[in-house]
Amino acid sequence: MKVLSCFFFCLNNFYVKCSPNTESEMNVVGDVIRAMEKPSTVVATLCWLTDEKLQFYYAVTTGKMFQRASTAQFVDMNHVKEDHGQDQDIVFVADLSCPNISTYFDKKSAENYFRSPFRWILIGNPIQDGEDIVPNAIAHVDLLPDSLVIVVCQVREHSYDLYTIYKISSGGKWCPKLYGKWDKETRFVIADPYMESIALQRQDLLGFEISICYVLTDNDSINHLTDEVNDHIDTITKVNFPTTNHLLDIVNASRKYIFADTWGYRVNGTWNGMTGYLIREEVEIGGSPMFFTSERISVVDYIASPTPTRSKFVFQQPKLSYENNLFLLSFRTSVWYSSTALIFLLLLALFVVTIWEWKKHVKDEQRTGDAGTLRANIVDVTILICGAICQQGSPVELKGSLGRVVMLILFLALMFLYTSYSANIVALLQSSSTRIRNLDDLLHSRLKFGVHDTVFNRYYFSTATEPVRKAIYERKVAPPGVTPRFISMEEGVKTMRKGLFAFHMETGVGYKFVGKYFNEGEKCGLQEIQYLQVIDPWLAVRKHTPYKEMFKIGLKRIQEHGLQSRENHLLYEKRPKCSGRESNFVSVSMVDCYPALLILSYGALVSLSFLAFELLVHQRQTIIHRITHCSGNTF
Ligand SMILES: *[C@@H]1O[C@H](CO)[C@@H](O)[C@H](O)[C@H]1NC(C)=O
Ligand SMILES: *[C@@H]1O[C@H](CO)[C@@H](O)[C@H](O)[C@H]1NC(C)=O
Ligand SMILES: *[C@@H]1O[C@H](CO)[C@@H](O)[C@H](O)[C@H]1NC(C)=O
Ligand SMILES: *[C@@H]1O[C@H](CO)[C@@H](O)[C@H](O)[C@H]1NC(C)=O
Repeated sequence: MKVLSCFFFCLNNFYVKCSPNTESEMNVVGDVIRAMEKPSTVVATLCWLTDEKLQFYYAVTTGKMFQRASTAQFVDMNHVKEDHGQDQDIVFVADLSCPNISTYFDKKSAENYFRSPFRWILIGNPIQDGEDIVPNAIAHVDLLPDSLVIVVCQVREHSYDLYTIYKISSGGKWCPKLYGKWDKETRFVIADPYMESIALQRQDLLGFEISICYVLTDNDSINHLTDEVNDHIDTITKVNFPTTNHLLDIVNASRKYIFADTWGYRVNGTWNGMTGYLIREEVEIGGSPMFFTSERISVVDYIASPTPTRSKFVFQQPKLSYENNLFLLSFRTSVWYSSTALIFLLLLALFVVTIWEWKKHVKDEQRTGDAGTLRANIVDVTILICGAICQQGSPVELKGSLGRVVMLILFLALMFLYTSYSANIVALLQSSSTRIRNLDDLLHSRLKFGVHDTVFNRYYFSTATEPVRKAIYERKVAPPGVTPRFISMEEGVKTMRKGLFAFHMETGVGYKFVGKYFNEGEKCGLQEIQYLQVIDPWLAVRKHTPYKEMFKIGLKRIQEHGLQSRENHLLYEKRPKCSGRESNFVSVSMVDCYPALLILSYGALVSLSFLAFELLVHQRQTIIHRITHCSGNTF
């Protein structure tokens, strides 16, 4: 609106001539913005006549699409906050000859506008006699390395030098650098056509001291940051200590180490540990990567994930027989039903054939006396079938050819069933259960639990809110009345080897111990389940640190050159490869035969009671017999 009204107002007095200086300056600004080749929105603070502003508007908004500024706005110096559009598009243009312009700079500095991604072009710099390029009006403002401030200095009439100015640190020395030259004939010529990003140009911090914070949970770790002694303690810090030092070498900074004992959590509204140092702006970099949590995102800036590592529950898959009855598992339910139906059919067929055979030979005396012939009696037939199922054979048989065919089919069919059944059981004995696939299965399994004793495990386990995780903590890890099962890495891995134990550990470190204590075959059945709801740890820097871009570039370089993976490989182990599954014999244990033993003992009990019952019946009959005998004598 403002632009439009200005436009109409200016059209009426278009004949007013601009001063020649102003005219060149607006061309300089227009050319510089076009040379940046970025979408731009100009926010200008100029103390010019209205028609000069109109010409300025034309100067900056003409040009090819995407090169010219999309719009220009003129703001009053006392105008405070205004929504100018996307941060990265905004180019502030300020006229240094305005009265009280330094108050305006103060205001903008307080609002944090002298930083990336904003761009500034300062014009109207009065010709100064000395080499002093930094205008007085802005000399007291801290323009740190992430700011892009271009000062337009007039050297002759229609000839300008453009400089970028910044300080390495607050209160440090000014570092001016030639950005380009402008001449009425040659127009804008950039000084370095292959100019890389601002951050790369300013990467040399000339020994400025940068503080960096590391997390050490063990007092002794400080003596073993680089010598690989006890590298399972504070591993994440020991991995990143060399690489963050490379980073400080890249930016040529001197360093100051600060050590914290925890990554930092919010306690009673204040942050402790390393996050606390970052928030209080006492350090620039948090040297130990930390978890990427939504709570921390708002208070620190994460820049890179140098070390992919996760903490997970690791356990040996329990034997199948811990969860299932192997003796039922070998056939599918449908196979069980059809086998039963088949046996029942054979029983019927055998019974019918027996009856038929006895009918046919009803007069055969020799046959009636032969104990080896199957009688037409359902109990006898059933006993024969039972014998066939158990592969025991039978003392009786059918003599006719039809009966023999039926018995042949019966024995043949049951032999195949029996063979496949026992083969299946042998296979099942060797296999391990895959039933535990998620946290819920884990919670309802018979496994015992242990958690590696670290600061973050203690924190995240005790603050879990999701129901399954909470239940795991309250029922398995820290049941009431028992000391919570936070144990050392070595103890945990050893217990895990014995089986039926799930251990929560940082996998990269834990697998080192697994390699040390486990046999080849035992490494095969290891399974992982994630408990913590976090992704890989990230390196954090102070929010709004002016060196963020340099750090990002430096860390990318360290990763590209393989330095980071060197450190990672030194201290972190990959999941062990399974190379000896065949040689791994599983011995049959009591658990596997439990159902069979159960049946055997119940059977023994039942038969004993039958025996007792039979004895009783026998006794009764003897007594009855005697009584009748005696009374027979008496009468
Ligand atoms: C400049 O600032 C001074 C003091 O802050 C004030 O008195 C004066 O009115 C200002 N001048 C202009 C033109 O705003
Ligand atoms: C690094 O900083 C020192 C000042 O501490 C400076 O003398 C040296 O030239 C810088 N190194 C490079 C490569 O720029
Ligand atoms: C570590 O050092 C601190 C302070 O020096 C001390 O309070 C703490 O007991 C020490 N911890 C161990 C495990 O030695
Ligand atoms: C947090 O506040 C509670 C109550 O105000 C207090 O009992 C507790 O000690 C505080 N914790 C810490 C770490 O300051």
